[in-house]
Amino acid sequence: VNTNGFVGAADTDYSLVDTRTRASSDLTKVKNNLGKTYLPLINGEYVQTDEVVDSVNPSNKSEVVGKIGLASVEQAEAAMKAAANAFKVWRKTPVSERAAILRKAADLMENRRPELSAWIVLEVGKPVREADGEVSEAIDFCRYYALEMERLDKGVNYDIAGETNKYIYQPRGIAVVISPWNFPLAIAAGMTLAALVAGNSTILKPAETSSVIAAKFAEIMVEAGIPKGVFQYLPGKGSKVGAYLVNHIGTHIIAFTGSQEVGCRIYADAAIVKPGQKHMKRVIAEMGGKNAIIVDESADLDAAVVGVVQSAFGYSGQKCSACSRVIVLEPVYETFVQRFVEATKSLNIGAAELPSTQVGPVIDANAQARILEYIEKGKTESSIALEMTAPDNGYYIGPVIFKDVPANGIIAQQEIFGPVVAVIKAKDFQKALQIANGTDYALTGGIYSRTPSHIEQAQTDFEVGNLYINRTITGAIVARQPFGGFKLSGVGSKAGGPDYLLQFLEPKTVTENI
Ligand code: NAD
Ligand code: ALA
Repeated sequence: VNTNGFVGAADTDYSLVDTRTRASSDLTKVKNNLGKTYLPLINGEYVQTDEVVDSVNPSNKSEVVGKIGLASVEQAEAAMKAAANAFKVWRKTPVSERAAILRKAADLMENRRPELSAWIVLEVGKPVREADGEVSEAIDFCRYYALEMERLDKGVNYDIAGETNKYIYQPRGIAVVISPWNFPLAIAAGMTLAALVAGNSTILKPAETSSVIAAKFAEIMVEAGIPKGVFQYLPGKGSKVGAYLVNHIGTHIIAFTGSQEVGCRIYADAAIVKPGQKHMKRVIAEMGGKNAIIVDESADLDAAVVGVVQSAFGYSGQKCSACSRVIVLEPVYETFVQRFVEATKSLNIGAAELPSTQVGPVIDANAQARILEYIEKGKTESSIALEMTAPDNGYYIGPVIFKDVPANGIIAQQEIFGPVVAVIKAKDFQKALQIANGTDYALTGGIYSRTPSHIEQAQTDFEVGNLYINRTITGAIVARQPFGGFKLSGVGSKAGGPDYLLQFLEPKTVTENI
């Protein structure tokens, strides 16, 4: 329980036989339901589409998880019209009713937890324990944002004698949510739920490769009682339907999580006031990272090795929070590299659905090709300390560790988004911090140290949104580690934190002379 009474959902305890049996039986049930078609939900109806694409299991390319009906621009326009219409009632729906829908959605997710995890495992190749943690995060977003909106709904009272002064929050209008595939449930749900509970009509445009899971979330929202037109599920191509929604004059808020390239483009497009547009759009853009962990000469190397391995190779390095640079001080450099390599060699690489798997596949063929290209570039600018082999029936890449990487090298500067780590040597702690801060990004960062002055300095000088000391740098928990970056890692306040909902609201001051 944290200070505002919020209680986070507990992850599944897989040491219990019953939970393992249920997980395995739900995985089988989901496997028996693969290949179904998922259509856009517009104004409360599932609508047919001209274009349908397969969403495949990255662990097994021949397995079609679902067929996705891609919305057209005309259907996106219909969704915008329905959202505008539904907003008239939703904006005046009491916060207690909106919050109740989120709480119902949380209960439904809790009831369907092993099934939802199975869909995540199969559609995006996330190993089961991490998929389960993601379901917890989605549940937490429901309950936390419900609680947060109830807090904000009280407003602030600045009355004086003879005059009342109320400071209240109102919804803004239509929110377009554009989500990535790497947290296909939690991030899609988090942005959508925040927009909805704040009273905005919301259109969710999920990533193409994770639209089945987003469809499961849509089913849950409908069952939880979201009124028609208030929430719409609109799978479609980012460059077409996503761009159309971003540029639409009726859009008030864009909540985006994804790559730096797309985020910057959306930010720029949204800034242009189009003919007929009567407001400025608000953009929340959570983008990438090139996250570093500093290991100094006083660090507990046992802890540092375990923390770096988990942070770098969890979900095959495909978390925006993942560690992709390790900056190690000279006195412990050789020992650290040797131990890091040995620890990494023990990781099991395989299909995400196998309980023993620690490193699953990457998301698709494009990602695999891009990461392999980076590995080749890395070989030209530094030395390979480890290159592991991987199965070939899915989009697998074995973990790769580069050592003696120059701080300004390509693999030390660009987000690779795969199981590839650059180890960089630093002569002292000041230099290590300078290297850590020497990218365009500022998302997560970590330090392993037992030197109080280093820990203190990192807190002020390490340019990251989330700093982790002597622990892993991934897996932020709602209402415990509000999450988000700055510089070119993002614009907006932190998800799962006390300022997040404010971005979806318009404050108003009401003064009455009495
Ligand atoms: P992406 O940018 O390729 O796609 C994200 C979304 O944007 C998708 O829904 C896509 O269809 C849509 N899109 C693409 N082009 C568009 C356009 N022109 N207009 C509107 N929408 C468009 O990112 P991705 O590959 O899905 O996700 C991986 C990236 O997300 C990584 O860079 C990762 O670091 C980042 N990420 C950041 C956070 C965070 O909180 N900072 C969290 C998760 C992922
Ligand atoms: N919020 C996710 C994490 O912390 C991205 O790993």
